[in-house]
Amino acid sequence: MAATRSTVRAITGGAAPPEGVHVADIKHAIGSHIAGYRFDGVSVPDDFRIALRELLQRRGLVLFEPGTVTAENFTTFAGFLGTFFHYAGPHTPRAPENPDATMIDSSRDNRLRNHIWHADGGFREDAPAFTALFGKVIPQGSGDTMFASAAHVYDMLDPLFAQYLESLTVVQSPDATGHITERYLDPEEAAQARLKMPPFEMPLVRVHPASGRKWVAVNESYACYIKGVSRVHSQNILGILFDMIKSPEATCRIEWREGALAVWDNRVVQHRAVKDYAPGTARILYRCTMTA
Ligand code: SIN
Repeated sequence: MAATRSTVRAITGGAAPPEGVHVADIKHAIGSHIAGYRFDGVSVPDDFRIALRELLQRRGLVLFEPGTVTAENFTTFAGFLGTFFHYAGPHTPRAPENPDATMIDSSRDNRLRNHIWHADGGFREDAPAFTALFGKVIPQGSGDTMFASAAHVYDMLDPLFAQYLESLTVVQSPDATGHITERYLDPEEAAQARLKMPPFEMPLVRVHPASGRKWVAVNESYACYIKGVSRVHSQNILGILFDMIKSPEATCRIEWREGALAVWDNRVVQHRAVKDYAPGTARILYRCTMTA
């Protein structure tokens, strides 16, 4: 597809999509689906890139149909969003045919924590801004991924409650639910990982640097506690927010097809895998992450 001015307008909501390209919302709160675009494996035209960035800012998540990219070139495509940010752990090895991608492979499920709501790399202060996930091997009728807009959650808050939340600081840690303990079996490696990724503080409500939208920056994997309040107070507030994050109003559920690609703004969108397949079932996704 040659990207044109009308491509930009189409994707950003201005005009009818160009011949053959279809853009549709997935849910009111989150997600758009793009069909009819084929990446040439080399570059993404400037106006199309700008349009996709705007779409990601507005919709949080963009899903591309199978055939848009390949296992070998999806990272080149996703690279239009920023610089690669590799943070692979010992259970997410590099993909054999693509050194820029890491593998989320169900044969390692007992070490992965992808079924708990999280933002990729959310255990670091410099977490990646964007993630791309490619469907490599998908179990029949299972292994979906759920996505939630933490910006929509902010918008759903009672204004007085939102104002209170904006005064709070949250402590995040990779070991809030055992990420390091479960991933790094060697005690020396685990100790090194803890030194490299200590707990850190951040405002509970954050502001998107490009869109100005606010979002609630807590997820079930990495939020430890709210600073300066009692344990019960902290747990209750986090519980309210976690409930809102996984509410039907804030989420969408993607049924994978092999060759499909999901790209999201990892700052405001959280996700989790659905492990509803039998033990031993193959499910492999390729992932790359980018800074803004
Ligand atoms: C991830 O956590 O980045 C992957 C999500 C999934 O396995 O569906």
